[in-house]
Amino acid sequence: MSLYTTLARPLLFQLDPEVAHHLTLASLRLPLLSKLLTLGREAPRDPARLLHLSFRNRLGIAAGLDKNAEATLAWRNLGFGFAELGTVTLHPQPGNPKPRVYRYPSQQALVNRLGFPNPGAEGIASRLRSLREKHRLDDFPIGINLGKSKVTPLDQAAHDYLGSLKLLHPLGDYFAINISSPNTPGLRDLAKPDDLRRLLSTLQDFNRSCSTTKPMLLKVSPDMEPSTLGEIVSITREFQLAGIIATNTTLHREPNDPFEAGGVSGQPLTGRATAITRSLRPLLGSDQILVGVGGIMSAADYQARRSAGADLVQIYTSMVYLGPHAAWEILGRS
Ligand SMILES: Cc1cc2nc3c(=O)[nH]c(=O)nc-3n(C[C@H](O)[C@H](O)[C@H](O)COP(=O)(O)O)c2cc1C
Repeated sequence: MSLYTTLARPLLFQLDPEVAHHLTLASLRLPLLSKLLTLGREAPRDPARLLHLSFRNRLGIAAGLDKNAEATLAWRNLGFGFAELGTVTLHPQPGNPKPRVYRYPSQQALVNRLGFPNPGAEGIASRLRSLREKHRLDDFPIGINLGKSKVTPLDQAAHDYLGSLKLLHPLGDYFAINISSPNTPGLRDLAKPDDLRRLLSTLQDFNRSCSTTKPMLLKVSPDMEPSTLGEIVSITREFQLAGIIATNTTLHREPNDPFEAGGVSGQPLTGRATAITRSLRPLLGSDQILVGVGGIMSAADYQARRSAGADLVQIYTSMVYLGPHAAWEILGRS
């Protein structure tokens, strides 16, 4: 029991989930608030050196929680080791019609069909540029998650991602190539071998032409046939990707799972995402990392995902249910 679960969460859960989310992010933009919420507590320490970057601990914010890079510093104050911002698309876009996010407290789950609302790569780049000018974030890597603009036809996807990468390349410590969100029509088709090769070769050609080559990771779906995992991993090795992020939300439903259309996250995803993590680990090269995400709701889930082979771990849904002390709880320091 915490002040969040007894007081703040019941109030926030009276509001539409998206409204509550925007209110929370707006308040976290006040630098003092995140410090106050944690009473200046030291971030949990479990230092790691991965992707040629220093992490003070292995727990990060998953993509989607801070789509627009609004509260980057707050995630650091809230004890996390890194944050993945976005998904960012080349063109600004409003996303799908509302309502489009649903809570299922009894299942510790969320369903969303947001469809990448965001101000576009140029907008995010200017926000991150001013952040980087004002703050050194040496101990807090920033990932940027890239997706396809809805208006761009699938056969031009590679150029759409490339446009975003060109604008954002100097501003991210790593990049996540998102081909796994279920709410952009056709996006998951980019996991087909020929399309994936075209996409990765376009992005890596540019990445290698830059003065600093950035680590690139592929974010995959939990709904892939297990038989396709081997080929996906071998393509990531062919194009020297730094690793894989597993997984995004699922479209799969068990009989008592949330019924709204969209991607399910949280508890119902735990088993599926852990199984994929365990299957991926032996397929990856020794120089590739695995980021585990999906249904990590407790310290036990964190440990289980690490044991399944995750080098880094991310959360979204448990942040909504646990609140500002989530990093300490999940890392077993509460
Ligand atoms: C409301 C919401 C929005 C999300 N938006 C994105 C997104 O823009 N890009 C992305 O790659 N994943 C997105 N995700 C997926 C999360 O990053 C994560 O992969 C998934 O929710 C599983 O983790 P969790 O069970 O800890 O939430 C979103 C998830 C939620 C709940």
